[in-house]
Amino acid sequence: METVKLQLKEQSYTLKETLRALKTNIQFCGDDKKVILFTSAVPNEGKSTVVMDLARSLTDSKKSVLVIDADIRKSVLIGRMRAKTIDGREIFGLSHYLSGQKRASDVIYVTETNGMCVLFAGPTVPNPTEMLEKRYFAELIEFAREQFDYVLIDCPPMGAAIDAAVIAKHCDGAIIVVSQGGVNSRAIMNVKHQLENANIPILGAVLNKVRMKKNSYYGHYYGSYYGAYGEEGKKDK
Ligand SMILES: Nc1ncnc2c1ncn2[C@@H]1O[C@H](COP(=O)(O)OP(=O)(O)O)[C@@H](O)[C@H]1O
Ligand SMILES: [Mg+2]
Repeated sequence: METVKLQLKEQSYTLKETLRALKTNIQFCGDDKKVILFTSAVPNEGKSTVVMDLARSLTDSKKSVLVIDADIRKSVLIGRMRAKTIDGREIFGLSHYLSGQKRASDVIYVTETNGMCVLFAGPTVPNPTEMLEKRYFAELIEFAREQFDYVLIDCPPMGAAIDAAVIAKHCDGAIIVVSQGGVNSRAIMNVKHQLENANIPILGAVLNKVRMKKNSYYGHYYGSYYGAYGEEGKKDK
């Protein structure tokens, strides 16, 4: 596996607290909750932020983690993280793998954060849902299950396409990321129903971008909270 350099942002205090709660809950869900998908109703609610920061937080606890950017329709992770290979070579991603051009070990990159690997989305393709339904994706998740303690999948929003529901078939649990004021409750309930229809336990929800206080110099300060989903969410599939 090749190494890729990433630039990771500093986390805010409340996001750190939220991630600690999220991490604890995931660990207490048991070791059968390994492959976890993250989705939301609409874009920009903070999925990618939460996934990358949770991955980092899990590696602090000496866990090995693979982050999969499955948002093939609108991926920003490579650019956001300023991802670069050591020798400047092209980075390959999920769409290269799903189209049969690359093997899993060619598209999974080791990062400089000990224990954290990433699989970027790759170039946009015209038929992502169809590609995710092929056996290649199932094989990738099986392979990742054997190699890592956790596999975190950054999915497209539920409102946009059915990709997340297709991905859900291979996952052990889901976390919904909700930005305060970003969506109405009907849209959130819709995400919940779609996940229930996909028969995947909802492990919790992150309420992100919570407006904490107004400061005339710095504007709004955003925080976040994590809520476990109660007994219902912990039921087995
Ligand atoms: N808690 C937060 N406080 C401030 N900004 C945030 C927070 N969470 C996310 N953001 C910002 O909001 C934008 C969208 O977040 P992102 O994680 O890309 O969302 P998504 O993956 O759901 O589309 C990014 O610019 C990110 O830096
Ligand atoms: Mg994203």
